[in-house]
Amino acid sequence: MKDFISINDFSPEQLKELLAESSQLKRLYKSGGRDLCLTGKTLAMLFEKPSLRTRISFEVAMTDLGGNAIYIRPEDIGGIRKQEPIKDIARVLSRYVDGIVLRTFEHSAVTELAAFAAAPVINALTDWSHPCQAMADALTISEHCGRIEGVKIAFIGDGNNVARSLAFASAKLGIKMVIASPARYELDADTINKANQVSAGSVQQINDPAAAVRDAEVIYTDTWVSMGQEKEKQKRIADFAGFQVNSELLKSAPPDAKIMHCLPAYRGFEITDEAAESANSIIFDQAENRLHFQRALLKKLMA
Ligand code: CP
Ligand code: NVA
Repeated sequence: MKDFISINDFSPEQLKELLAESSQLKRLYKSGGRDLCLTGKTLAMLFEKPSLRTRISFEVAMTDLGGNAIYIRPEDIGGIRKQEPIKDIARVLSRYVDGIVLRTFEHSAVTELAAFAAAPVINALTDWSHPCQAMADALTISEHCGRIEGVKIAFIGDGNNVARSLAFASAKLGIKMVIASPARYELDADTINKANQVSAGSVQQINDPAAAVRDAEVIYTDTWVSMGQEKEKQKRIADFAGFQVNSELLKSAPPDAKIMHCLPAYRGFEITDEAAESANSIIFDQAENRLHFQRALLKKLMA
C-alpha cells in the first residue's frame, strides 16, 4: 500500500486491518499512551477547498505520532496545474516530505500526483471520492452497531463523493447500502456495478427515501451542494425537496436507527436541526473517528 486514493483499490482484509489499527490507536491515545512512530517525519497538506475536520484531524494525528504537518494553500505555490505541473509538484515535495495529502476538485489531480510522487499520497476529498471519511464512518458504524457485516445503511440525498466512497466501503466490508436520490442525482452505474462485483456487501440505488429507511440501522446524509457546486445551489435545493432527513422521514425508520452526517451539515436543508441533535445522532463520534482512522493510515503509509 503506497497511496490511499480510493477504497476500491484495497482488499477487504487491508481495510479491516486499517480499522483494527484505528481502534487500537484510539484505545492507546484514550488511555494516555503514545505511539511516536512518525518521529522526524513531515506531511505536506495541500488543500484547494476549505476544511475543518480533515485538515485539523490530519495535523493533530501527525503531531500525536511525533511528526510534523505543513499546510499549503494553492496560492502559496502558484496554484495547482497553474504555475507548475502536478508531476513537478509531486517530485519536488517528495524530496522534502514523507507524505502528501491533497484535497482538490478533479480526481485525476490526486491520481497524477500519486503517479509521480515517491512519497505516499492521501486523497483528502476530490469531487469523485472521500475515502478517509468512509473509513472513519465504518469505524463509527462498527462501534455503534457492534459489527459491520450485514449492517443496513440508508443514504439519503446526493450520489456524490461521500456516497461513492461509502458505497465502496459498504461493498468491501459487507454493509448493505441503499441510496435514495432524486432523479439525475443518483450514484453512477459504474460505481454501483463495481461495488456490486464484491460479494460481501451490496449497493442499491432507489428514488424513494421512505423505502430506503424502512429497515435501516443507520441513516446517512450529506449536503445537497458540495464544494464547487455553489452556482447550482438554488436548482439543487429545489431538486432535493423531499430528501431531507427530518422527523417525518424518521417515522418510516426503526426508532433506534442511528443518524450520521459527514459534516458540515446545512440544517434546514438536507437535515433538520432536530434530527442532527437527536439522541440517535452519532455525528460527533463520526467526526472524532476521522482522527483515529487517520492516525492508523499515516502509520501504515509513513512509519
Ligand atoms: N467531513 C469532512 O471532510 O469535513 P471537512 O470538509 O471539514 O474536512
Ligand atoms: N460532499 C461534500 C462533503 C464535504 C465533506 C463536499 O464535497 O463538499
